[in-house]
Amino acid sequence: MVDKVLLKWKCLFLMSSDKTESYLWVDDLSKESTQQVFQRAKAIKSQLKSGSTELTLQGKQIALVFSEASTRTKMSFQMAAQRLGAQCLIIDNVKSSSMSKGETFDDTFWTLHSIRPDMFVIRCGGHEPLAEIAKKTEIPIVNGGFGSLAHPTQCLLDTFTMEEHFGKLNGLKVLFVGDLDHSRVAQSHFKLLTQLGIQVGVCAPLEFSNKVSPEFKRFETLDEATEWCDVYMGLRVQFERHGEQSQQSFTKDDYIKHYSLNKERLDKLNKNAVIMHPGPVNWTIEFQDEVKTDPRLLMWKQKENGVYVRGALMEMILRNNS
Ligand code: CP
Repeated sequence: MVDKVLLKWKCLFLMSSDKTESYLWVDDLSKESTQQVFQRAKAIKSQLKSGSTELTLQGKQIALVFSEASTRTKMSFQMAAQRLGAQCLIIDNVKSSSMSKGETFDDTFWTLHSIRPDMFVIRCGGHEPLAEIAKKTEIPIVNGGFGSLAHPTQCLLDTFTMEEHFGKLNGLKVLFVGDLDHSRVAQSHFKLLTQLGIQVGVCAPLEFSNKVSPEFKRFETLDEATEWCDVYMGLRVQFERHGEQSQQSFTKDDYIKHYSLNKERLDKLNKNAVIMHPGPVNWTIEFQDEVKTDPRLLMWKQKENGVYVRGALMEMILRNNS
């Protein structure tokens, strides 16, 4: 019976390598497995709130390797791991590890690998051969943010939060506003939301949205877009990733005028719509201060749900690899 249950879990999960099930990209989890993660996240949430948590990760060692800065992702993985009974080994960023002395990411990974954690959660700049590394190890790896290319667990917690609020995902209209081309969250969402039957709309300057597929609804004005959506997903303008492209044809003031969520646009937003943002927020750029007190803001719920969803995902991966 136990074997049959284990086999079912294994079949639900797509293999990212011949040996080991990692979670690197949204495609690594089937639609059915995503729902399994959500169901378990809901149970973990209620257990943690009632103080009756099962220590399903007891005895496990989770290595958090964050070579790019993070607050939400790192802390929620750590909190989830600890609440479920695991312990964490943490490399916080380049400065606190031997990467500051020139050690490569590859050597850093294999050094930690040799002390045998049960799982890796990795955030890195997007140039590292994560998929190649995952093929060479039997220790599962979870992508905690990969440059501007992918952030699959953020998408899981965002969609969990949408489903929790609306009671459904199919048919929802989700609008992305901001620096779409540099957003790893947007890149992963564009894949996941289509898979879940969610309609995607975008509103951004062309210089921030060159990579966006023509299959998505593109709005010329934010006023028009706010009236359309059920979910308004603000995305951070990622100044640190602009590099040589910083000679934009628009100024910061132009951006704020055309793409910032302000009082007038809040008035146009459907009263049943919600406002989300993966964080961190550039207040006064993506959102004006009025957003902070708007009852439709779900941003704090997203952060809380990160603990439950990441806990459920770690459980599933460790069980599938046991
Ligand atoms: N949303 C997100 O990934 O935030 P952090 O960079 O703080 O982890």
